[in-house]
Amino acid sequence: MPRVTFSKTGNSVELASGSSLIDMEDTGKSEVPFGCRSAACGTCLIDVVSGMNNLSPRTEEEQDLLSDLDMDGENRRLACQCKLHGDITVDALN
Ligand code: FES
Repeated sequence: MPRVTFSKTGNSVELASGSSLIDMEDTGKSEVPFGCRSAACGTCLIDVVSGMNNLSPRTEEEQDLLSDLDMDGENRRLACQCKLHGDITVDALN
């Protein structure tokens, strides 16, 4: 199963391939906070340290909010909008 590693702590979570990163919450080990879960609040903002190509592309709603927040650097994602297809390493920014 693909693994999400949190770069600051080295802790990690495994999720089934194709899972939403929101599913990290169900493991009780998520180090990424979630709010609206619908690309409206920005709470789940992450920096993808490695493995960006293992995430689904940005959604239109995600792109819009990242632009509004002036956070649309290429490594920035909203975790609530990402589907996982392979190993990644992330930093939570909130
Ligand atoms: S949880 Fe609100 S934007 Fe992701």
